[in-house]
Amino acid sequence: MTGSGIRIAPSVLSADFGHLADQIALAEEGGADLLHLDVMDGHFVPNITVGPMIVEAVDRITRLPLDVHLMIDNPESYVNAFIEAGADMISIHAEACRHLHRTLVAVREKGVAAGVALNPSTPVMNLVNVLEEIDFALVMSVNPGFGGQAFIPQSVEKIREVREMIVERDVNVEIEVDGGVTTANVRDIVGAGADIVVAGSFVFKADDVPGAVRSLREVVTA
Ligand code: DX5
Ligand code: ZN
Repeated sequence: MTGSGIRIAPSVLSADFGHLADQIALAEEGGADLLHLDVMDGHFVPNITVGPMIVEAVDRITRLPLDVHLMIDNPESYVNAFIEAGADMISIHAEACRHLHRTLVAVREKGVAAGVALNPSTPVMNLVNVLEEIDFALVMSVNPGFGGQAFIPQSVEKIREVREMIVERDVNVEIEVDGGVTTANVRDIVGAGADIVVAGSFVFKADDVPGAVRSLREVVTA
């Protein structure tokens, strides 16, 4: 893996929501490939963020595909609302969904990319029986709920494990990594097998937002 095909997904969780359109334009200017939107319900995670209404508003102001990360209980009840709002990718936490297989199939039937997200303590084995039903696996490298947390180092080994499973099963599944991504660790993350990296605070808390997106790409393509 050279890193040249890596996709960068800034997470607007750390953006200034009072100037969301400007912030997204800056991420686009830096060459962002996707926009990562974190949906939290105050149940699955101890924080509340945005719903379909904001996803729909963001869809109107960007040309970037929307990568919607559902950190909510009963995601099966809400996937359609997010698809209608404009989601291009939807990730569902394995820990939050009783009928994971059925829900992933339903997402894909609507022409939306389906992903399974794994908390840091959730074993890679949770992917085994849905690997043919997904387009990407989201490896959480922090505990979901907040931006600005430190990357959990064991995540690098976990990414490798997921990559091995994908190669062994010969499936077309991408690996997305979310949490604590910076220029200090992105090389290791991509080297372990990541295709998509999410970066929230590193991008939106930077003085130079476009420069922060570019610096992530530079580190992995150097
Ligand atoms: C955390 C979210 C992340 C968050 C990442 O629960 O899923 O997408 O925005 O933020 P950073 O990059 O600051 O860890
Ligand atoms: Zn996320």
